[in-house]
Amino acid sequence: MRKFMIAGNWKMNKENDEAIDLTAELVKNVNDIKNVDIVICPPFTALFPVNKIIKSTIIELGAQNMFYEEKGAFTGEISGNFLVSCGCKYVIIGHSERRKYFGESDNDINKKIKRAVEVGLIPILCVGETLEQREAGHTEEVVRGEIIGAMENQVNKEKIIFAYEPIWAIGTGKTAQPADANSIHKLIRGVLEADFEMNGDNIRILYGGSVKPSNAEILLQQSDIDGSLVGGASLDAKGFADIIKIAAGES
Ligand code: PGA
Repeated sequence: MRKFMIAGNWKMNKENDEAIDLTAELVKNVNDIKNVDIVICPPFTALFPVNKIIKSTIIELGAQNMFYEEKGAFTGEISGNFLVSCGCKYVIIGHSERRKYFGESDNDINKKIKRAVEVGLIPILCVGETLEQREAGHTEEVVRGEIIGAMENQVNKEKIIFAYEPIWAIGTGKTAQPADANSIHKLIRGVLEADFEMNGDNIRILYGGSVKPSNAEILLQQSDIDGSLVGGASLDAKGFADIIKIAAGES
């Protein structure tokens, strides 16, 4: 059985003092949890102070983005090496907000994944369709295309974690029907097996989009949902801890 991962994507929230408080509160709530990988992804500015708090706990650190070059004249960008030096183990790549607001293409995402793996980070690759694409019946084609675009020519593919995040469900309070989400997770697993020769049993695919304590259980019960990428609900230590406890089978 695949181990659940619950990852919190804080997005552009939490100044350092707030980030420290939230992390400390979370540690209190989840430090005796077993059998779940717990990841928090604060903004870049909070990575270092948050890492100090979680260093000797079971919580692991991730970033929300990175650039694919190693260093140099790329004003405002952050390289994978910098993230490693702040204590990051994971990095979210290709989140729909990066694709939408910052014009990230499948090609950018492909290069970011490659670099992340090279520097020893575990990428969490996000894919998902818009409402228009869903209504037009294009969900499978879009998701397949994003997976193929990101995965082509990658090495060490088994390091990569996947997240299916239907865009219409992100931050909207709408969640995909668990069975519908599960069928897309199956599709992703199938593409990775068929086109990229990966072992489906070992691939972890998280679901993201308005996950909260009240819907986490039914989502996590689905055969192909291996955890959650949680946005809004990860900003509340108690709520996020509740989701983690559900994954651990403790509530
Ligand atoms: P949400 O965000 O939980 O606030 O919908 C999820 C995400 O964007 O990763």
